Amino acid sequence: MISVKNVYYKYPGMKKDIIQDISFQVNQGEVFGFLGPSGAGKSTLQKILTGVLREYRGNVHVLGVEVKKRKSSFYENIGVDFEFPNFYGKFTALENLKYFSSLYEKQTVDPMELLEAVGLKEDAGKKVSSFSKGMKMRLGFVRSLLHEPKLLFLDEPTSGLDPANARTLKNMITIQKKAGKTIILTTHNMRDAEELCDHVAFIVDGKIRALDTPQAFQVSRSNTKVFYSYLMNGQKIEKSSTLVQLGKDDTFMTALGSGMLTSIHSKEQTLEDVFISLTGRGLQ
Ligand SMILES: Nc1ncnc2c1ncn2[C@@H]1O[C@H](COP(=O)(O)OP(=O)(O)OP(=O)(O)O)[C@@H](O)[C@H]1O
Ligand SMILES: [Mg+2]
Repeated sequence: MISVKNVYYKYPGMKKDIIQDISFQVNQGEVFGFLGPSGAGKSTLQKILTGVLREYRGNVHVLGVEVKKRKSSFYENIGVDFEFPNFYGKFTALENLKYFSSLYEKQTVDPMELLEAVGLKEDAGKKVSSFSKGMKMRLGFVRSLLHEPKLLFLDEPTSGLDPANARTLKNMITIQKKAGKTIILTTHNMRDAEELCDHVAFIVDGKIRALDTPQAFQVSRSNTKVFYSYLMNGQKIEKSSTLVQLGKDDTFMTALGSGMLTSIHSKEQTLEDVFISLTGRGLQ
């Protein structure tokens, strides 16, 4: 579906490459996430993949074409949800979706159904200029689905949404995946990455610093911490260990055997913990 080899990109007039030597592959039917802090280059990379920024070096093949040489028919097969979606503010949500539908040669879906799916049915007749940020985000998301593309690019689709609307969108992303669509998802929300992605690329300062499945990332750092407490001479004593070491922790084993253990808690690594330990950077 997507093959990226040794790609570099600098914005016009800038000296330094914003994207540096990026390579990866995305297979059909998978959700591939770019996870990284603000300014890492996620949106820039997304714009390269969608043919918006074409002055890159290296190779970017999307649906079998070098994106630099894409034709307008390229957009019949991909759906793009931009980080800051643009609409015609003087037109209603429904008019906007109808207009964008008219740009496709292929069959499009009923825009009212999409609006209803993201809780905008009642707002279909309102001008987009009166929409809140969250409403525009949801409208931008459904716009990318109008022509049922097989490949979807979603740039921070849930950012700035309340939990209920974020959940709606995540469920819709899962439905798209189940329907066999391939999805590229940009986020700095590690929970979204964990929940939705088959593969995650950690991106910092324009470079991929690690690439794996969310599960493998978590297992790869198997230092799950364990906190326990026990009673000794009527006093509560608190200690910590790691899951791997626990069986060899004499204090723990004695407390367990003597029935003096009073509590035990484990703290599994989150994807964010792994991100920080691998990149030396936080996600915010
Ligand atoms: N049009 C532009 N011209 C010059 N520099 C730009 C332009 N757009 C982005 N940049 C710079 O490129 C770098 C990467 O920006 P990008 O928007 O790709 O980051 P991001 O990972 O998407 O961040 P965020 O999580 O905040 O959306 C930043 O240093 C940014 O200032
Ligand atoms: Mg961005």
